[in-house]
Amino acid sequence: MKIAILGYGTVGSGVGEILTTHRNTLSVPLELVAILERKEQLHRHPLMCDNIESILCDPEIEAVVETMGGIEPAHTYILRALKAGKHVVSANKAVIARYAQEFHNCAKEHGVSFLYEASCGGGIPWLHQLHSVKRIDEIDEIEGIFNGTSNYILDHMTKESQTFQHVLRKAQELGYAEADPSADIDGMDILNKLRISIMLAFDTAVAETIPVFGIRNIQKADLLYPETADYVLKLLAVAKRSGNHYDAVVEPTLCPLSSPQSAVRDHYNLTCLHGTTIGKLCLLGQGAGKFATAHAIVQDLTDIVLGTAYDSPSFAQSLTYDGTILRSAYIIRTTLGKSQLQSILGKHLHHCDTFAAYTYAHTDVLYKAKMHQLMKEIVNADAQAFLMALAQMEE
Ligand code: NDP
Ligand code: HSE
Repeated sequence: MKIAILGYGTVGSGVGEILTTHRNTLSVPLELVAILERKEQLHRHPLMCDNIESILCDPEIEAVVETMGGIEPAHTYILRALKAGKHVVSANKAVIARYAQEFHNCAKEHGVSFLYEASCGGGIPWLHQLHSVKRIDEIDEIEGIFNGTSNYILDHMTKESQTFQHVLRKAQELGYAEADPSADIDGMDILNKLRISIMLAFDTAVAETIPVFGIRNIQKADLLYPETADYVLKLLAVAKRSGNHYDAVVEPTLCPLSSPQSAVRDHYNLTCLHGTTIGKLCLLGQGAGKFATAHAIVQDLTDIVLGTAYDSPSFAQSLTYDGTILRSAYIIRTTLGKSQLQSILGKHLHHCDTFAAYTYAHTDVLYKAKMHQLMKEIVNADAQAFLMALAQMEE
């Protein structure tokens, strides 16, 4: 199959290298014939051009890999490639989370595949796993660590005496972060992945209203104090189905040291589902990075050639969002009083059975404490009180 790659950055060049230098180990013939890049980049590779028309109008090109990122022109190019009868494989969760239904309809109409394994969990075959489990089970919960950059930041801030900004720069140098890393830090990248995962797991279109809290305001103390009480702070995404409703949230969460989430290091992700007969199933792997992500793309291309590509989601369920299904205890570091805190939390309080607030710094940050006991009262005190509250919750 002849392939064009749109965007030859971290992931695109990883695909290019697998298709060329690792050609001998591929199980099906995949040939890179064109690369779209910007004019000033054309010297980097003999196959590069800056004219999308030459790719879309070339009848020999059967598949297009979109690794440019962003919404436009990615949205337009994907649609045009599908309409030209070309299979499309994309890693671009931002555009997929927004336009998946349109892409799937278009692919179906033109008898081609639209696949995007690399968009969620990097090299983890997470979307394949959702499809595979769904052949037998109903999936009622998905949960996990879905962002390599933010996990790398939290892990390295905890283990080493490095600042947030320093660790973020390292994650950018390693090719894990988005072009605008605020998507990683503020949880929007995870939200996109969660929306794609909900769509596939629950076969439904996804509402816009999922609450998202990131790690922008996390300080070293926020990581160290929970650690002394045997908890590790992780940025988790969770979605749960109940009847015709579902709830979902992205938020920093205290995970017990004994949990699998707490052991996830560096840029690794842990993606979990719960199905009727399989029960809980978790996959651990590199959630970001050049070759792991490129591997997922080449897997999709291989499935297209072998005719083993999975079906589009049916969108047969019309589940509605219900923000009261997921409930937890929360711990909030704040300098604010209870009433100010309540007005800030406002619409998110439906997720919250009770919450505790403590003060030792000047930025407000929200944790979801995954503990079964509920906090009974507001603790607006110092870090010592926070530790005591944690200890009481464990009793
Ligand atoms: P990069 O920024 O490294 O690469 C994107 C490349 O596409 C750049 O060279 C960019 O050029 C080029 N490009 C963008 N727009 C155009 C355009 N209109 N015409 C021609 N070239 C264009 O990003 P990544 O490789 O990291 O990510 C690509 C996609 O894969 C994103 O959607 C990302 O979310 C996703 N992804 C990334 C992962 C990772 O680990 N990095 C993992 C999983 C998914 P320029 O720099 O000049 O804009
Ligand atoms: N920026 C993303 C991350 C890339 O760090 O997880 C992988 O989707």
